[in-house]
Amino acid sequence: MSMYMICFSPTGGTEKVAEILSQKIDVEVQMIDLCDPKLPNHTFTDEDIALIAVPSYGGRVPALAAQRLERMQANQTRAILVCVYGNRAYEDTLVELQDVCENCGFKVIGAVAAIAEHSIAHQFASGRPDALDTRTLQAFASKIKEKLASSTCTTPVLPGSRPYKKAGSGGMIPEVSEQCEACGLCASKCPAEAIDPANPKHTDSQKCISCMRCVCICPHQARFLNAKRIQSLGAKLEKLCSDRKENELFI
Ligand SMILES: Cc1cc2nc3c(=O)[nH]c(=O)nc-3n(C[C@H](O)[C@H](O)[C@H](O)COP(=O)(O)O)c2cc1C
Repeated sequence: MSMYMICFSPTGGTEKVAEILSQKIDVEVQMIDLCDPKLPNHTFTDEDIALIAVPSYGGRVPALAAQRLERMQANQTRAILVCVYGNRAYEDTLVELQDVCENCGFKVIGAVAAIAEHSIAHQFASGRPDALDTRTLQAFASKIKEKLASSTCTTPVLPGSRPYKKAGSGGMIPEVSEQCEACGLCASKCPAEAIDPANPKHTDSQKCISCMRCVCICPHQARFLNAKRIQSLGAKLEKLCSDRKENELFI
């Protein structure tokens, strides 16, 4: 029996949540990184356990994460689904993740919706998951562990609608400043292979998924979003994101 953490986390918030949960469930966890464009196919047995974590993008599973998950082959492998969002809403993310995972043979036995800092508008859920979130998530993990140890294999009812809400379009493509030294780190780490390694100042707007990894990891702070668009997004989200949302467990 092996425990796997299958994670799509361009800027690290989803991974933080997944780590808090998985460390409490099992000490030895193998990481499968859905951000890796060269990810090989994986096969899982009915004895394995998978914690599958994605961020919510516009209330949906990021399309790239869904595509990479679809290549997994499971065999009634018990799965715990995790959706991480930036304190606005996660809408249909969990039901879509359930459908994708069940289609490749996972058996969903639990799910968590958790909050992490908004990776575009950092003023929302800033610093989360925080100490209180960590305690809550650890308590969730204990309940998940109990269910895994029992013979109960029921699938909880998850919030969300089918058909899912329409996926967002017209993302925000990061711009590049003169600080760029063309080191190529962004190109090598882009989950969508949208940045030209030969000319990192060029981003393919058709491939870019606006995940913000390049902005987050650039050692020269040379990648940024248009200030006006960020400001108008912040104003739009102000009402929806300002109250503290709490983590949820479905089991
Ligand atoms: C393109 C995009 C769309 C997002 N859409 C939502 C959303 O619909 N609701 C929400 O609460 N947060 C949203 N967020 C915030 C992320 O879900 C949140 O910051 C998450 O922790 C990012 O995961 P990561 O740090 O693993 O990259 C969005 C972020 C991005 C980049």
